[in-house]
Amino acid sequence: MDKFPSPQPHGKIQELIQNVFWVQGSVHIGPGLRVCRNMVIVRQGTELTVISPVRLSDHGEKELRGLGIVRHVVKIGYFHGLDDAYFIDRFDASYWALANGTREQDPDVDNELKREHLPIRDAELFEFQDTIHKEAAILIPSKGGLLITCDSVQHWQNTAGCSPLAKLAVHKIGFRRRPAQIGPPWMKKMTPKGSTLQRDYERLLQLKFTHLIGAHGQPLIHNAKSALSETIDATF
Ligand SMILES: [Fe+2]
Repeated sequence: MDKFPSPQPHGKIQELIQNVFWVQGSVHIGPGLRVCRNMVIVRQGTELTVISPVRLSDHGEKELRGLGIVRHVVKIGYFHGLDDAYFIDRFDASYWALANGTREQDPDVDNELKREHLPIRDAELFEFQDTIHKEAAILIPSKGGLLITCDSVQHWQNTAGCSPLAKLAVHKIGFRRRPAQIGPPWMKKMTPKGSTLQRDYERLLQLKFTHLIGAHGQPLIHNAKSALSETIDATF
């Protein structure tokens, strides 16, 4: 036992594109409610950057160490961060987030994420401009472009990793209305009264990407841009 939240059920580390991996974990959010939650791992040489950390079991952590040394922990989603402190402590990693992008319960930031200051070489930072709280996305340009989001875009191909009650909730809340969905609760919490996030999403769509992965659901390999374009048309 340690002072950090315990590991929760998760799957295996899987390669997404060359040198980018993901793990589908989960998080307990209420009685009977466990929803899936993803972590992305980017490898550069022997160095790893984890985005939206998910604490793994001892076995999972051994697999992670087999990929490289965790040097950087990146927070892109305002509402995520349960395991950030654990990763920073466990791996003596540096913590990256947008300026004013953390909550009271999050660790102190070592490095501010900026367009010209990122832990991943050649990656591009996208910052939402019109949201109530700070939210980012990261673009990895290789293999046609991989867009990494947190709650702002979520592709729910299925409800694997969710408890039976959470599966019902996922359908009811509308996460599975279409591919590359904008999370309805996130949009509600992030949209200023009388405003819209359309401008941000249209800017997001200008990035060059073919694939995407959000912090919930599954990766969308190929056709991610057209799926997001349809989502934007249907949403705004
Ligand atoms: Fe989330």
